[in-house]
Amino acid sequence: MDAPSLLDQPVTLAEILDQDSLQRVCMTFARVYRTGLSVLDTRGHMLVDIPAEHALCRRVRALPQGADICSTVADELAELTRIEDTGDFEENSSPFIDPVGGDPQSVLTSHHCICGLSYEVLPIEQQGVVLGRLVYGPYRRAGTDALDARLAERTGAAAAEGLAAAEAELLKMPEQSAEDAAHAVRSIGEVLSVIVQTGYARHLTSQIHIAAIQDAYNELQEKNRRLNDSLDKLKELDKLKSNFLATVSHELRTPLTSVIGYSEMLLEGLAGKLNKEQRDYVQTIMDKGDQLLGIISEILDISKIESGAVQLLTEPVNVGELLTQVSDAMMPQARRKKIALTHRAEPGVPSIVADRSKARQILLNLLSNAIKFTPDGGHVEAIAAPTKLLSEGTAIPQAGVELRVIDSGVGVPEAVRERIFEAFYQVDNSSTRLFGGTGLGLSIVKHFVEAHGGQVWVEAGPDDEGSTFVVRLPLRPPAGRVVQRHMVG
Ligand SMILES: Nc1ncnc2c1ncn2[C@@H]1O[C@H](COP(=O)(O)OP(=O)(O)OP(=O)(O)O)[C@@H](O)[C@H]1O
Ligand SMILES: [Mg+2]
Repeated sequence: MDAPSLLDQPVTLAEILDQDSLQRVCMTFARVYRTGLSVLDTRGHMLVDIPAEHALCRRVRALPQGADICSTVADELAELTRIEDTGDFEENSSPFIDPVGGDPQSVLTSHHCICGLSYEVLPIEQQGVVLGRLVYGPYRRAGTDALDARLAERTGAAAAEGLAAAEAELLKMPEQSAEDAAHAVRSIGEVLSVIVQTGYARHLTSQIHIAAIQDAYNELQEKNRRLNDSLDKLKELDKLKSNFLATVSHELRTPLTSVIGYSEMLLEGLAGKLNKEQRDYVQTIMDKGDQLLGIISEILDISKIESGAVQLLTEPVNVGELLTQVSDAMMPQARRKKIALTHRAEPGVPSIVADRSKARQILLNLLSNAIKFTPDGGHVEAIAAPTKLLSEGTAIPQAGVELRVIDSGVGVPEAVRERIFEAFYQVDNSSTRLFGGTGLGLSIVKHFVEAHGGQVWVEAGPDDEGSTFVVRLPLRPPAGRVVQRHMVG
Protein backbone atom coordinates (compact mmCIF):
# COMPACT_ATOMS: atom_id res chain seq x y z
CA MET A 1 0.00 0.00 0.00
CA ASP A 2 1.28 3.50 -0.84
CA ALA A 3 2.25 5.73 2.10
CA PRO A 4 -0.23 8.61 2.59
CA SER A 5 0.82 11.88 0.98
CA LEU A 6 2.49 14.36 3.32
CA LEU A 7 -0.46 16.69 2.74
CA ASP A 8 -2.84 14.05 4.08
CA GLN A 9 -0.87 13.31 7.20
CA PRO A 10 -2.43 14.68 10.41
CA VAL A 11 -0.55 17.41 12.24
CA THR A 12 -0.92 18.86 15.70
CA LEU A 13 -0.66 22.50 16.68
CA ALA A 14 2.40 21.75 18.78
CA GLU A 15 4.17 20.29 15.72
CA ILE A 16 3.66 23.32 13.52
CA LEU A 17 3.81 26.22 15.97
CA ASP A 18 6.84 27.78 17.52
CA GLN A 19 5.57 27.99 21.08
CA ASP A 20 7.82 30.86 22.16
CA SER A 21 6.61 33.12 19.35
CA LEU A 22 3.03 32.07 20.01
CA GLN A 23 3.41 32.89 23.69
CA ARG A 24 4.83 36.34 22.88
CA VAL A 25 2.03 37.15 20.41
CA CYS A 26 -0.69 36.05 22.88
CA MET A 27 0.95 37.99 25.69
CA THR A 28 0.77 41.17 23.60
CA PHE A 29 -2.92 40.64 22.82
CA ALA A 30 -3.74 39.80 26.44
CA ARG A 31 -2.17 43.11 27.51
CA VAL A 32 -3.95 45.11 24.81
CA TYR A 33 -7.38 43.63 25.59
CA ARG A 34 -6.72 43.25 29.35
CA THR A 35 -7.98 39.70 29.33
CA GLY A 36 -6.74 36.15 29.77
CA LEU A 37 -5.86 34.11 26.67
CA SER A 38 -5.15 30.45 26.16
CA VAL A 39 -4.47 28.18 23.22
CA LEU A 40 -5.28 24.49 23.48
CA ASP A 41 -4.88 21.68 21.01
CA THR A 42 -7.60 19.19 20.20
CA ARG A 43 -6.49 16.91 23.01
CA GLY A 44 -7.00 19.66 25.55
CA HIS A 45 -3.24 20.26 25.97
CA MET A 46 -2.51 23.86 26.85
CA LEU A 47 0.07 25.41 24.47
CA VAL A 48 -0.32 28.93 25.83
CA ASP A 49 -1.90 29.95 29.11
CA ILE A 50 -2.00 33.63 30.07
CA PRO A 51 -4.34 33.92 33.07
CA ALA A 52 -6.33 37.13 33.66
CA GLU A 53 -5.35 38.45 37.05
CA HIS A 54 -8.65 40.13 37.98
CA ALA A 55 -9.24 41.02 41.64
CA LEU A 56 -12.56 39.17 41.28
CA CYS A 57 -10.79 35.93 40.55
CA ARG A 58 -8.66 36.37 43.68
CA ARG A 59 -11.78 36.98 45.76
CA VAL A 60 -13.51 33.91 44.36
CA ARG A 61 -10.44 31.80 45.00
CA ALA A 62 -10.50 32.96 48.65
CA LEU A 63 -14.11 31.75 49.14
CA PRO A 64 -14.85 28.37 50.73
CA GLN A 65 -14.17 25.82 47.89
CA GLY A 66 -13.15 28.81 45.75
CA ALA A 67 -9.92 27.19 44.58
CA ASP A 68 -11.83 24.04 43.53
CA ILE A 69 -14.39 26.14 41.69
CA CYS A 70 -11.68 27.98 39.74
CA SER A 71 -9.86 24.79 38.76
CA THR A 72 -13.14 23.16 37.69
CA VAL A 73 -13.85 26.14 35.45
CA ALA A 74 -10.37 25.76 33.91
CA ASP A 75 -10.93 22.00 33.40
CA GLU A 76 -14.28 22.58 31.78
CA LEU A 77 -12.79 25.14 29.46
CA ALA A 78 -10.10 22.67 28.47
CA GLU A 79 -12.75 20.00 28.02
CA LEU A 80 -14.90 22.09 25.75
CA THR A 81 -11.93 22.75 23.48
CA ARG A 82 -11.13 19.06 23.32
CA ILE A 83 -12.78 17.66 20.24
CA GLU A 84 -10.83 14.42 20.05
CA ASP A 85 -12.48 11.41 21.69
CA THR A 86 -15.68 13.19 22.80
CA GLY A 87 -16.50 15.11 19.62
CA ASP A 88 -19.02 16.79 21.88
CA PHE A 89 -18.45 20.48 21.54
CA GLU A 90 -21.96 21.88 21.78
CA GLU A 91 -22.80 20.75 25.29
CA ASN A 92 -21.73 23.80 27.32
CA SER A 93 -21.91 26.47 24.66
CA SER A 94 -24.34 29.32 24.34
CA PRO A 95 -25.90 30.11 20.95
CA PHE A 96 -23.76 31.10 17.99
CA ILE A 97 -22.66 34.66 17.81
CA ASP A 98 -21.00 35.07 14.51
CA PRO A 99 -20.59 32.11 12.18
CA VAL A 100 -17.30 32.07 10.22
CA GLY A 101 -17.50 29.45 7.49
CA GLY A 102 -19.97 26.72 6.71
CA ASP A 103 -18.71 24.10 9.14
CA PRO A 104 -20.72 24.32 12.37
CA GLN A 105 -17.50 23.64 14.31
CA SER A 106 -15.81 26.64 12.74
CA VAL A 107 -17.66 29.17 14.82
CA LEU A 108 -17.10 31.42 17.72
CA THR A 109 -18.94 30.27 20.86
CA SER A 110 -19.56 32.02 24.14
CA HIS A 111 -19.50 30.54 27.62
CA HIS A 112 -20.37 31.91 31.00
CA CYS A 113 -18.59 30.72 34.08
CA ILE A 114 -20.00 30.24 37.54
CA CYS A 115 -18.78 33.70 38.58
CA GLY A 116 -20.81 35.33 35.86
CA LEU A 117 -17.78 36.12 33.69
CA SER A 118 -17.67 35.24 30.00
CA TYR A 119 -15.34 33.42 27.64
CA GLU A 120 -15.19 33.37 23.85
CA VAL A 121 -13.87 30.24 22.19
CA LEU A 122 -12.66 30.25 18.58
CA PRO A 123 -11.48 27.20 16.64
CA ILE A 124 -7.99 27.36 15.11
CA GLU A 125 -8.10 25.73 11.68
CA GLN A 126 -5.75 24.59 8.98
CA GLN A 127 -7.35 23.80 5.62
CA GLY A 128 -10.75 23.16 7.21
CA VAL A 129 -9.37 20.90 9.94
CA VAL A 130 -9.70 22.13 13.52
CA LEU A 131 -6.30 21.89 15.20
CA GLY A 132 -7.18 23.60 18.48
CA ARG A 133 -9.04 26.45 20.15
CA LEU A 134 -8.31 29.98 21.21
CA VAL A 135 -9.98 30.90 24.52
CA TYR A 136 -10.52 34.61 25.18
CA GLY A 137 -11.48 35.64 28.72
CA PRO A 138 -12.68 35.84 31.36
CA TYR A 139 -14.17 39.26 30.77
CA ARG A 140 -17.22 41.06 32.17
CA ARG A 141 -19.85 41.11 29.48
CA ALA A 142 -21.80 44.38 29.25
CA GLY A 143 -24.97 44.13 31.35
CA THR A 144 -23.51 41.67 33.91
CA ASP A 145 -24.19 43.39 37.24
CA ALA A 146 -24.28 40.45 39.63
CA LEU A 147 -22.45 37.23 40.40
CA ASP A 148 -23.96 34.06 38.97
CA ALA A 149 -26.47 32.57 41.38
CA ARG A 150 -24.70 29.18 41.14
CA LEU A 151 -21.74 30.64 43.02
CA ALA A 152 -23.76 31.40 46.16
CA GLU A 153 -25.28 27.89 45.97
CA ARG A 154 -21.87 26.31 45.87
CA THR A 155 -20.13 28.39 48.54
CA GLY A 156 -22.98 28.39 51.11
CA ALA A 157 -24.32 30.97 53.53
CA ALA A 158 -21.01 31.36 55.40
CA ALA A 159 -19.53 32.95 52.32
CA ALA A 160 -21.98 35.89 52.22
CA GLU A 161 -19.36 38.43 53.17
CA GLY A 162 -16.84 37.16 50.68
CA LEU A 163 -19.48 37.05 47.96
CA ALA A 164 -20.38 40.67 48.59
CA ALA A 165 -16.71 41.67 48.28
CA ALA A 166 -16.44 39.60 45.10
CA GLU A 167 -19.49 41.25 43.63
CA ALA A 168 -18.01 44.67 44.43
CA GLU A 169 -14.91 43.64 42.42
CA LEU A 170 -17.13 42.44 39.56
CA LEU A 171 -18.76 45.83 39.35
CA LYS A 172 -15.33 47.51 39.23
CA MET A 173 -14.29 45.46 36.16
CA PRO A 174 -14.55 47.25 32.81
CA GLU A 175 -17.44 46.02 30.70
CA GLN A 176 -17.07 44.70 27.20
CA SER A 177 -19.91 44.09 24.77
CA ALA A 178 -20.31 40.65 23.25
CA GLU A 179 -19.68 42.20 19.80
CA ASP A 180 -16.43 43.87 20.96
CA ALA A 181 -15.25 40.63 22.52
CA ALA A 182 -16.17 38.73 19.34
CA HIS A 183 -14.32 41.30 17.26
CA ALA A 184 -11.26 41.07 19.50
CA VAL A 185 -11.15 37.30 19.45
CA ARG A 186 -11.61 37.19 15.68
CA SER A 187 -8.74 39.66 15.21
CA ILE A 188 -6.49 37.54 17.38
CA GLY A 189 -7.75 34.48 15.48
CA GLU A 190 -6.72 36.03 12.16
CA VAL A 191 -3.20 36.66 13.40
CA LEU A 192 -3.02 33.11 14.76
CA SER A 193 -4.28 31.77 11.47
CA VAL A 194 -1.36 33.47 9.65
CA ILE A 195 1.05 32.02 12.21
CA VAL A 196 -0.51 28.59 11.73
CA GLN A 197 -0.31 28.85 7.92
CA THR A 198 3.34 29.85 8.06
CA GLY A 199 4.09 27.16 10.61
CA TYR A 200 2.30 24.57 8.52
CA ALA A 201 4.22 25.56 5.38
CA ARG A 202 7.48 25.34 7.32
CA HIS A 203 6.48 22.04 8.83
CA LEU A 204 5.57 20.67 5.40
CA THR A 205 8.87 21.83 3.91
CA SER A 206 10.85 20.20 6.68
CA GLN A 207 8.79 17.01 6.31
CA ILE A 208 9.52 16.99 2.58
CA HIS A 209 13.22 17.44 3.34
CA ILE A 210 13.12 14.65 5.86
CA ALA A 211 11.27 12.38 3.42
CA ALA A 212 13.80 13.20 0.67
CA ILE A 213 16.72 12.52 3.00
CA GLN A 214 15.08 9.31 4.18
CA ASP A 215 14.62 8.21 0.56
CA ALA A 216 18.22 9.05 -0.27
CA TYR A 217 19.34 7.21 2.85
CA ASN A 218 17.28 4.13 1.96
CA GLU A 219 18.68 4.19 -1.54
CA LEU A 220 22.20 4.49 -0.16
CA GLN A 221 21.58 1.61 2.22
CA GLU A 222 20.39 -0.52 -0.68
CA LYS A 223 23.44 0.43 -2.78
CA ASN A 224 25.66 -0.27 0.18
CA ARG A 225 24.12 -3.68 0.60
CA ARG A 226 24.63 -4.46 -3.09
CA LEU A 227 28.22 -3.19 -2.92
CA ASN A 228 28.90 -5.37 0.10
CA ASP A 229 27.46 -8.37 -1.73
CA SER A 230 29.71 -7.63 -4.71
CA LEU A 231 32.68 -7.14 -2.41
CA ASP A 232 32.04 -10.50 -0.77
CA LYS A 233 31.82 -12.16 -4.18
CA LEU A 234 35.00 -10.44 -5.34
CA LYS A 235 36.84 -11.47 -2.19
CA GLU A 236 35.71 -15.02 -2.76
CA LEU A 237 36.90 -14.87 -6.38
CA ASP A 238 40.18 -13.29 -5.32
CA LYS A 239 40.74 -16.08 -2.84
CA LEU A 240 40.01 -18.66 -5.52
CA LYS A 241 42.47 -16.91 -7.85
CA SER A 242 45.19 -16.83 -5.18
CA ASN A 243 44.66 -20.51 -4.37
CA PHE A 244 44.71 -21.37 -8.06
CA LEU A 245 47.93 -19.38 -8.63
CA ALA A 246 49.56 -20.97 -5.61
CA THR A 247 48.69 -24.49 -6.75
CA VAL A 248 49.69 -23.95 -10.37
CA SER A 249 52.98 -22.26 -9.49
CA HIS A 250 53.81 -24.96 -7.04
CA GLU A 251 53.09 -27.67 -9.60
CA LEU A 252 55.14 -25.85 -12.27
CA ARG A 253 58.12 -25.37 -10.04
CA THR A 254 58.91 -29.06 -9.56
CA PRO A 255 59.28 -30.01 -13.25
CA LEU A 256 61.03 -26.71 -13.97
CA THR A 257 63.65 -27.42 -11.33
CA SER A 258 64.33 -30.71 -13.15
CA VAL A 259 64.61 -28.92 -16.52
CA ILE A 260 67.18 -26.53 -15.03
CA GLY A 261 68.99 -29.33 -13.20
CA TYR A 262 69.28 -31.52 -16.31
CA SER A 263 70.42 -28.53 -18.42
CA GLU A 264 73.13 -27.86 -15.87
CA MET A 265 74.24 -31.52 -16.04
CA LEU A 266 74.34 -31.35 -19.83
CA LEU A 267 76.41 -28.16 -19.72
CA GLU A 268 78.85 -29.75 -17.32
CA GLY A 269 79.30 -32.56 -19.82
CA LEU A 270 77.90 -35.30 -17.60
CA ALA A 271 76.15 -36.81 -20.64
CA GLY A 272 79.07 -36.35 -22.96
CA LYS A 273 80.88 -33.41 -24.47
CA LEU A 274 78.66 -30.84 -26.26
CA ASN A 275 79.73 -28.83 -29.25
CA LYS A 276 79.56 -25.00 -29.17
CA GLU A 277 76.11 -24.81 -30.76
CA GLN A 278 74.67 -27.44 -28.42
CA ARG A 279 76.14 -25.62 -25.42
CA ASP A 280 74.55 -22.34 -26.55
CA TYR A 281 71.15 -24.01 -26.92
CA VAL A 282 71.35 -25.68 -23.52
CA GLN A 283 72.53 -22.40 -21.95
CA THR A 284 69.45 -20.67 -23.40
CA ILE A 285 67.20 -23.42 -22.01
CA MET A 286 68.81 -22.88 -18.62
CA ASP A 287 68.56 -19.07 -18.70
CA LYS A 288 64.93 -19.12 -19.74
CA GLY A 289 64.23 -21.81 -17.16
CA ASP A 290 65.79 -19.59 -14.46
CA GLN A 291 63.72 -16.66 -15.65
CA LEU A 292 60.56 -18.77 -15.54
CA LEU A 293 61.44 -20.01 -12.08
CA GLY A 294 61.83 -16.37 -10.94
CA ILE A 295 58.35 -15.55 -12.23
CA ILE A 296 56.84 -18.63 -10.62
CA SER A 297 58.49 -17.81 -7.29
CA GLU A 298 57.08 -14.27 -7.44
CA ILE A 299 53.59 -15.57 -8.16
CA LEU A 300 53.90 -18.00 -5.28
CA ASP A 301 55.09 -15.19 -2.99
CA ILE A 302 52.25 -12.87 -3.95
CA SER A 303 49.61 -15.57 -3.60
CA LYS A 304 50.98 -16.42 -0.16
CA ILE A 305 50.88 -12.73 0.75
CA GLU A 306 47.32 -12.36 -0.52
CA SER A 307 46.11 -15.36 1.41
CA GLY A 308 47.60 -13.79 4.55
CA ALA A 309 50.10 -16.59 5.01
CA VAL A 310 53.19 -14.38 5.31
CA GLN A 311 55.15 -15.08 8.46
CA LEU A 312 58.23 -13.29 9.72
CA LEU A 313 61.01 -15.50 11.00
CA THR A 314 63.17 -12.88 12.64
CA GLU A 315 66.83 -12.77 13.60
CA PRO A 316 69.43 -10.01 13.99
CA VAL A 317 70.47 -8.75 10.54
CA ASN A 318 73.56 -6.65 9.80
CA VAL A 319 72.21 -4.38 7.09
CA GLY A 320 75.65 -3.37 5.76
CA GLU A 321 76.65 -7.01 5.25
CA LEU A 322 73.32 -7.85 3.62
CA LEU A 323 73.79 -4.93 1.23
CA THR A 324 77.21 -6.25 0.23
CA GLN A 325 75.90 -9.79 -0.33
CA VAL A 326 72.96 -8.68 -2.49
CA SER A 327 75.09 -6.22 -4.50
CA ASP A 328 77.64 -8.95 -5.15
CA ALA A 329 74.87 -11.26 -6.33
CA MET A 330 73.62 -8.61 -8.76
CA MET A 331 77.08 -7.74 -10.06
CA PRO A 332 76.99 -10.12 -13.09
CA GLN A 333 73.72 -8.57 -14.30
CA ALA A 334 75.11 -5.05 -13.87
CA ARG A 335 78.32 -5.97 -15.73
CA ARG A 336 76.35 -7.35 -18.65
CA LYS A 337 74.86 -3.87 -19.12
CA LYS A 338 78.09 -2.05 -18.22
CA ILE A 339 76.31 -0.44 -15.30
CA ALA A 340 78.45 0.83 -12.42
CA LEU A 341 76.88 -0.82 -9.36
CA THR A 342 78.17 0.54 -6.04
CA HIS A 343 77.04 0.31 -2.46
CA ARG A 344 77.96 1.79 0.90
CA ALA A 345 76.78 1.81 4.49
CA GLU A 346 76.99 5.14 6.27
CA PRO A 347 78.54 5.23 9.76
CA GLY A 348 76.18 4.31 12.59
CA VAL A 349 73.87 1.99 10.63
CA PRO A 350 72.28 -0.11 13.36
CA SER A 351 71.73 -3.83 13.20
CA ILE A 352 68.03 -4.68 12.92
CA VAL A 353 65.83 -7.60 13.84
CA ALA A 354 64.18 -8.77 10.62
CA ASP A 355 63.29 -11.75 8.47
CA ARG A 356 66.60 -12.14 6.66
CA SER A 357 65.27 -13.78 3.49
CA LYS A 358 62.56 -11.16 3.12
CA ALA A 359 64.99 -8.29 3.72
CA ARG A 360 67.25 -9.87 1.08
CA GLN A 361 64.29 -10.19 -1.31
CA ILE A 362 63.45 -6.50 -0.80
CA LEU A 363 66.98 -5.44 -1.77
CA LEU A 364 67.18 -7.95 -4.65
CA ASN A 365 63.91 -6.76 -6.21
CA LEU A 366 64.89 -3.09 -5.93
CA LEU A 367 68.40 -3.65 -7.32
CA SER A 368 67.19 -5.86 -10.16
CA ASN A 369 64.64 -3.17 -11.13
CA ALA A 370 67.31 -0.47 -10.95
CA ILE A 371 69.56 -2.48 -13.28
CA LYS A 372 66.69 -3.51 -15.58
CA PHE A 373 65.32 0.02 -16.02
CA THR A 374 68.75 1.70 -16.43
CA PRO A 375 70.18 1.85 -19.96
CA ASP A 376 73.64 0.43 -20.68
CA GLY A 377 76.48 2.46 -19.21
CA GLY A 378 74.38 4.00 -16.42
CA HIS A 379 74.95 3.75 -12.70
CA VAL A 380 73.15 2.26 -9.70
CA GLU A 381 73.98 2.95 -6.08
CA ALA A 382 72.62 1.34 -2.91
CA ILE A 383 73.06 3.15 0.40
CA ALA A 384 72.22 2.10 3.97
CA ALA A 385 71.94 4.88 6.56
CA PRO A 386 70.63 5.37 10.08
CA THR A 387 67.23 7.10 10.23
CA LYS A 388 64.18 7.78 12.37
CA LEU A 389 60.67 6.71 11.40
CA LEU A 390 57.14 6.69 12.70
CA SER A 391 56.14 3.07 12.84
CA GLU A 392 52.88 1.42 13.83
CA GLY A 393 51.61 2.34 17.29
CA THR A 394 54.29 4.98 17.96
CA ALA A 395 53.71 8.72 18.14
CA ILE A 396 57.39 9.64 18.36
CA PRO A 397 59.83 8.78 15.56
CA GLN A 398 61.87 5.70 16.42
CA ALA A 399 65.37 4.72 15.30
CA GLY A 400 65.63 2.58 12.19
CA VAL A 401 67.47 1.96 8.94
CA GLU A 402 67.01 3.67 5.59
CA LEU A 403 67.92 1.92 2.35
CA ARG A 404 68.15 4.01 -0.81
CA VAL A 405 68.49 2.46 -4.26
CA ILE A 406 69.41 5.22 -6.70
CA ASP A 407 69.63 4.69 -10.45
CA SER A 408 70.21 6.77 -13.55
CA GLY A 409 67.48 4.93 -15.45
CA VAL A 410 64.22 5.76 -17.21
CA GLY A 411 62.59 7.14 -14.03
CA VAL A 412 59.00 6.71 -12.81
CA PRO A 413 56.44 9.34 -13.91
CA GLU A 414 55.08 11.22 -10.88
CA ALA A 415 51.47 10.23 -11.62
CA VAL A 416 52.14 6.51 -11.18
CA ARG A 417 54.58 6.58 -8.27
CA GLU A 418 52.02 4.94 -5.98
CA ARG A 419 50.53 2.61 -8.57
CA ILE A 420 53.77 0.83 -9.37
CA PHE A 421 53.52 -0.87 -5.97
CA GLU A 422 50.24 -2.56 -7.03
CA ALA A 423 50.44 -6.19 -8.16
CA PHE A 424 50.82 -6.60 -11.95
CA TYR A 425 51.09 -2.84 -12.54
CA GLN A 426 53.76 -1.88 -15.06
CA VAL A 427 54.32 1.61 -16.45
CA ASP A 428 54.74 0.17 -19.92
CA ASN A 429 52.31 -2.69 -20.31
CA SER A 430 52.25 -2.68 -24.10
CA SER A 431 53.04 -5.81 -26.07
CA THR A 432 56.08 -4.03 -27.48
CA ARG A 433 57.60 -3.18 -24.11
CA LEU A 434 61.32 -3.32 -23.77
CA PHE A 435 61.57 -4.75 -20.27
CA GLY A 436 60.53 -8.23 -19.17
CA GLY A 437 58.78 -9.12 -15.92
CA THR A 438 55.33 -9.65 -14.48
CA GLY A 439 54.87 -6.48 -12.40
CA LEU A 440 54.99 -8.30 -9.06
CA GLY A 441 58.43 -7.35 -7.71
CA LEU A 442 57.46 -4.04 -6.09
CA SER A 443 54.19 -5.37 -4.74
CA ILE A 444 56.19 -8.05 -2.92
CA VAL A 445 58.64 -5.40 -1.68
CA LYS A 446 55.81 -3.29 -0.30
CA HIS A 447 54.16 -6.22 1.48
CA PHE A 448 57.43 -7.36 3.01
CA VAL A 449 58.43 -3.84 4.10
CA GLU A 450 55.03 -3.21 5.67
CA ALA A 451 55.08 -6.60 7.38
CA HIS A 452 58.23 -5.32 9.10
CA GLY A 453 56.39 -2.12 10.12
CA GLY A 454 58.34 -0.05 7.57
CA GLN A 455 57.58 2.20 4.61
CA VAL A 456 58.63 2.27 0.98
CA TRP A 457 58.21 4.89 -1.72
CA VAL A 458 59.84 6.17 -4.88
CA GLU A 459 61.14 9.66 -5.63
CA ALA A 460 62.81 11.25 -8.62
CA GLY A 461 66.54 10.57 -8.65
CA PRO A 462 69.19 13.25 -7.99
CA ASP A 463 69.01 16.09 -10.55
CA ASP A 464 65.70 14.60 -11.75
CA GLU A 465 67.56 11.77 -13.44
CA GLY A 466 66.42 8.17 -12.91
CA SER A 467 64.67 7.22 -9.69
CA THR A 468 65.37 6.66 -6.02
CA PHE A 469 63.56 3.94 -4.09
CA VAL A 470 63.53 4.53 -0.33
CA VAL A 471 62.85 1.83 2.26
CA ARG A 472 62.67 2.57 5.97
CA LEU A 473 62.66 -0.28 8.47
CA PRO A 474 62.31 -0.02 12.26
CA LEU A 475 64.86 -1.68 14.56
CA ARG A 476 62.39 -4.53 15.06
CA PRO A 477 59.04 -5.42 13.50
CA PRO A 478 55.76 -4.89 15.41
CA ALA A 479 55.23 -7.77 17.86
CA GLY A 480 52.01 -9.10 16.28
CA ARG A 481 53.69 -9.88 12.94
CA VAL A 482 56.41 -12.18 14.23
CA VAL A 483 55.66 -15.87 14.48
CA GLN A 484 59.01 -17.17 15.52
CA ARG A 485 62.38 -15.83 16.54
CA HIS A 486 65.65 -17.59 16.27
CA MET A 487 68.98 -16.14 17.22
CA VAL A 488 72.01 -16.52 15.09
CA GLY A 489 75.18 -16.55 17.14
N1 LIG B 1 64.06 1.55 -10.99
C1 LIG B 1 62.99 1.75 -11.78
N2 LIG B 1 63.05 2.70 -12.76
C2 LIG B 1 61.98 2.93 -13.56
N3 LIG B 1 60.80 2.26 -13.46
C3 LIG B 1 60.70 1.32 -12.51
C4 LIG B 1 61.78 1.02 -11.63
N4 LIG B 1 61.35 0.05 -10.78
C5 LIG B 1 60.09 -0.25 -11.13
N5 LIG B 1 59.68 0.51 -12.16
C6 LIG B 1 58.36 0.50 -12.80
O1 LIG B 1 57.46 -0.15 -11.94
C7 LIG B 1 56.87 -1.29 -12.56
C8 LIG B 1 56.60 -2.35 -11.53
O2 LIG B 1 57.80 -2.86 -11.03
P1 LIG B 1 57.85 -4.35 -10.53
O3 LIG B 1 59.20 -4.65 -9.99
O4 LIG B 1 56.69 -4.55 -9.65
O5 LIG B 1 57.55 -5.18 -11.85
P2 LIG B 1 58.49 -5.58 -13.03
O6 LIG B 1 59.91 -5.27 -12.70
O7 LIG B 1 57.93 -5.03 -14.27
O8 LIG B 1 58.30 -7.15 -13.06
P3 LIG B 1 58.87 -8.22 -11.99
O9 LIG B 1 59.54 -7.45 -10.92
O10 LIG B 1 57.63 -8.89 -11.50
O11 LIG B 1 59.75 -9.09 -12.76
C9 LIG B 1 57.85 -1.68 -13.60
O12 LIG B 1 57.24 -2.39 -14.66
C10 LIG B 1 58.36 -0.32 -14.09
O13 LIG B 1 57.43 0.25 -14.99
MG1 LIG C 1 60.77 -5.87 -10.87
